[in-house]
Amino acid sequence: MVKVKKIVKELDPYVPGRSIDEIAIKYNINKNNIIKLGSNENPAGVSKKAIEAVEKESNLISKYPESNLEELKTKIAEYSGVKSSNIIVGGDGADEILDVLGKTLMEPGDEFIVPLPSYMYYEFTLKIQGGVPVYAKWNVDENKLDVDSVINAITDKTKIIFLCTPNNPTGGLIDKKDIKRVLESTEALVVVDEAYFEFSEVNNVDLLADYDNMLILRTFSKVLGLAGMRVGYAISNPTFIEFMHRVKPVFSLTKLSYVAALATLDDEDYIKKSTELSIQSREFLYEKISEFDKIHIYPSKANYLLLDIRKTGMKSHEFAEALMKQGIIVRDCNSFKGLDEYWIRVSVGTLEEDKRFIEVLNDLVG
Ligand SMILES: Cc1ncc(COP(=O)(O)O)c(C=O)c1O
Repeated sequence: MVKVKKIVKELDPYVPGRSIDEIAIKYNINKNNIIKLGSNENPAGVSKKAIEAVEKESNLISKYPESNLEELKTKIAEYSGVKSSNIIVGGDGADEILDVLGKTLMEPGDEFIVPLPSYMYYEFTLKIQGGVPVYAKWNVDENKLDVDSVINAITDKTKIIFLCTPNNPTGGLIDKKDIKRVLESTEALVVVDEAYFEFSEVNNVDLLADYDNMLILRTFSKVLGLAGMRVGYAISNPTFIEFMHRVKPVFSLTKLSYVAALATLDDEDYIKKSTELSIQSREFLYEKISEFDKIHIYPSKANYLLLDIRKTGMKSHEFAEALMKQGIIVRDCNSFKGLDEYWIRVSVGTLEEDKRFIEVLNDLVG
């Protein structure tokens, strides 16, 4: 047998949200009757302009895609209020950017800091590259970053600090002054993960002008509706962006993802409506779920809500399974470090999907 890296043998697998196909087969449910509220996708679906662009360009897939991506970088730069030299685009979404960050920065034994609970892919991808996770704390009760715990975790081995705002899975925002405190406490790269920033209507791009050790991570998978096309991007200073371009896979963004991303950014009306729909749905769900005595819900600035379900007497896997049997997919948060076995994350749906979810929830724990 070939010698596989020790870390790969020991790796905890990344646990993604469940798919519609998987649940349709497992519980013998018609796919059309399944509502997916497990992976924080966009209930508004895809921009029509993106679909048209993909159809129009589909004959080009016999050719290699763009490698430079200048037109897309320029459009993303306009959308973000920066220059194209500040942008790198990832072809496996923001997850690819995380992988590129590891390749660019991590030497075996280097540390990265993650306040728990937060997005688990940071750890999944950086550990493979020899990074050692050091955990800080997200205060779930107050839904607030414990910024001192982050600063106290910094050592001379720290290479990257992850600050997810709004935080996945809790939905809380990090105050700008706390981000500044972290930036000023270290020379390590501070990654401000803004995958969900559009739903919070705040962002931290203004800080980039003052801090060379900052990178903002973003994605087309959420409000921009292209989770299946796998487009992500990062914004940072041009020197660091250039280093990342040296290690990024050259052709990772497919031609069809490229044209879909360009067309979506041109569709301002779609972006505006998508944002409004998700915010409206979030507020509706928050209000309705708050009425259940056995569920504690946390206010969120993203397109999902975190539920503490311990008073129902069920564990999260039992709760998620009971919903899935009724054709509703939610996220069992058991695989999120920093949370025990009583947490569920629900993504916002269309108002119709939300209503069906509330009905099923009522049958289960009302
Ligand atoms: C906080 C956060 N960051 C990054 C990502 C990665 O996004 P993608 O790889 O789909 O672009 C996700 C996906 O769910 C996320 O929740």
